Order: sequence, then C-alpha cells, then structure tokens
Amino acid sequence: LTVDGKSYSFPTLEGSEQEKAFDISNLRDQTGYVTLDRGYKNTGATKSAITFLDGEEGILRYRGYSIEELASKASFLEVAYLLIYGELPTKEQFTQFESAIRSHTMVNEDMRKIFDGFPVNAHPMCVLASLVSAMSGFYPESYEGNGDENLDIVRLMAKLPTIATWSYKRSQGHPLNYPKNKLGYIENFLQMMFALPVEDYTVDPVVAEALNILLILHADHEQNCSTSTVRLVGSSQANLYASISAGISALWGPLHGGANQEVIEMLEEIKAGGGDVAKYVDMAKNAKTTGFRLFGFGHRVYKNFDPRAKIIKKAADDVLSKLGVNDPVLEIAKGLEEAALNDEYFVSRKLYPNVDFYSGIIYRALGIPTNMFTVMFAIGRLPGWIAQWKEMRETKEPIGRPRQIYTGSTLREFVPM
Ligand code: MLT
Repeated sequence: LTVDGKSYSFPTLEGSEQEKAFDISNLRDQTGYVTLDRGYKNTGATKSAITFLDGEEGILRYRGYSIEELASKASFLEVAYLLIYGELPTKEQFTQFESAIRSHTMVNEDMRKIFDGFPVNAHPMCVLASLVSAMSGFYPESYEGNGDENLDIVRLMAKLPTIATWSYKRSQGHPLNYPKNKLGYIENFLQMMFALPVEDYTVDPVVAEALNILLILHADHEQNCSTSTVRLVGSSQANLYASISAGISALWGPLHGGANQEVIEMLEEIKAGGGDVAKYVDMAKNAKTTGFRLFGFGHRVYKNFDPRAKIIKKAADDVLSKLGVNDPVLEIAKGLEEAALNDEYFVSRKLYPNVDFYSGIIYRALGIPTNMFTVMFAIGRLPGWIAQWKEMRETKEPIGRPRQIYTGSTLREFVPM
C-alpha cells in the first residue's frame, strides 16, 4: 500500500482467518482496490468545512447552521455570504456585500451580441454555461494573474441572475429588462424575468419569499457532481468563471439539476394517464420491464428524508394556497409519495422523496417555465460552488486526478491492415 509516496507492507492474508471469514481470496494479489493517494482528493474524497450532511439522520447544515433555521430566518444573500466567507455577516459586512453586488448587475453589452447569436430555442442552461465561460474573456485579469478574486465573486453573484433572465425573455418575444439596482437581489431577478414595458410590475412578497427559501435550500450540497466538477476544474488553477461554467454544465444533466424538470414531466404524464398513482408505483417497481422511472425519489447519500424535501413540500402547500394556484400535479405528487412510502419495495430500499420532488411545482406556481428550473438551481447553487472553489484554493489542494483501475486489454500486437 502506498500513501503519499511511502510504502507500507502488511502480512499476507493468504490462508488467514480473515480470508476464511470474508472470502477475500479473490482479491488476493490484485492491486488498485485500496487507494489513498493525494491525486484522489479532489474527486472521491475531499476535506471540506462548508456543508455537513448526515444521510442517515437527514441532517443538513451550512457552516454549522441548520438549513431549516436558515431557510426560515435568513435571506439568500446572507446565506451566500456565510457559505463564501465562513461566517454570517454583521450588518455592516452585509451592506457592503449587497451594495457591491448591486453595482455589478449590469452585463457588458458585447455579451448581448454573443447571446443574440444563439438560436431562439437554445436551452437556457447551454446559454448560461456559455456566457459564464465568456466572462473570462471580458475580465482577462482573472486568468492573467493580476485579478481580484473577490471582485470575480461579486461579479458572478451579480450578473448570473441578469444573464439567466435573457433566455426566458427572448423565448417570450419580450425585450430584455435591465437590472433595477434599487431592488433587492431576489426582487431584481423577478422584475428582470416578469416586468413588461407596458405595465407596472410589483413584486409579490409571497413569490419573493418562496424563491428565497428555494435558493437557500439549493445553495450547497457538499461533494455532488457539479461541485466536485467546479473543484476539479479549479484545481488546475483555471479561473472562477471557467470553473463555474463547468459546474453549470455538470448540473444540467437529468440525474442532477435537470431532475426536477423530469419530475414535472413525469407528474404531467401521470395526470394525462388518469392520475392513478398506484398504477405508476407498480410500474416504477417493475421499471426493468415497464421502462417507467420514478424521478425525484431516492438519493445517493440520504437513507432517510432529504431534509430539503420536507421544507419544500410544506412551502409548496403554502405558496400554492397563498397564490390561489390550483395545480393538480401537487395532489398527484402527494398521492405518489404516500403510495410509495406505504409500499415495502420503497421502504426497504429507503427511497424517499428528494429535493427535486416538489421544487418544480413551486417554480411553476411562481410562473417559471420548466426549461428554466435548472437555471434556478444554478442561481441557488452559485454561492456553494464559489465557496468550494475558494476553499479548495485556500487549502492549496493539489491538482485533481481521478483514480483509474484499468480494465482494458493487456499488450496487443499491432498487425498492419
Ligand atoms: C444536490 O443538491 O446537489 C443534489 O442533491 C445532488 C447530490 O447531492 O448528489
């Protein structure tokens, strides 16, 4: 066994009691099964002081603060500050942070030209990843070594919501809205999304509060696919914009941030099929033959309720009733959850609803279309990605290099055609 270049040898297990007890004979003489080398640190095993989660207990904390408490008492920008800088801000620190963000919400007009080159039906996630990557070109000091890391952080936090609204506005055939910096972070995003030049727009506090909760719940989730991508890309010393753009691409997939879009499409399919949830629960149990997959259930880490799902389920009830929205898929989702949780198949496999199960229902009630759901996830996740990128730099992690166990051919002889 080699750890950090030092070799350690262990007594052979051949014929030992351990070998008899655990039938490890098939592992004898093989290499590559135990790997503790540092190259693995940024991917498979990473030390981090940002987010704590206990999958058995269903506990989730940002920098030691419970997510339930933050979601009910804090603003998204306070949580962003906490994640990025490690402590909750004082009033003065918060004012500075917020006003720095307010003064950077505008996006260079030349970025508009890049945006205008995209087909109208380009997916908003592709546009977002591309434009964030393009930001490096507009702020070359970020890779030329004379940049200000904090300024890059503020720019990204400020501009991501602005860019995010562009795809939606254009898909509606509306002119793009400029930021209004007298508004708060969430209110400004909402006006850029929904205000029309022909009428006054007032932000509904119910909508703003719901969005605040959703963004906080999505703000970080330790080493998942997109976060470890951000860390891995950043470990090569790639700049913040390039690293975050890679994270956005990783988030896009239906197994990660794209899952709540899949959930809504699945709920719509069940509705169209008559809403018989028991039938679909059975189909999910026999997915190999039926091909029906239950999206929004189960999690690689949680063997209990995803704590975010509990908060989101309650928020979905509150928001829909306060807004007077009657979305039949909410009842279908609840029925599906109940049927699944009373079914031995799901109980024994510890398959509980996850964060994606109810979030799309709320986004839809807020007027956010399905193809923007993952963009909303990206806006929420941005402070977490930034915090992880910053931590990885500060603790001077080595360049990431995923460990490989070679499974291909042994040496083959080249025979010319
Ligand atoms: C997340 O919030 O990133 C998702 O739950 C995915 C994960 O943690 O693996």
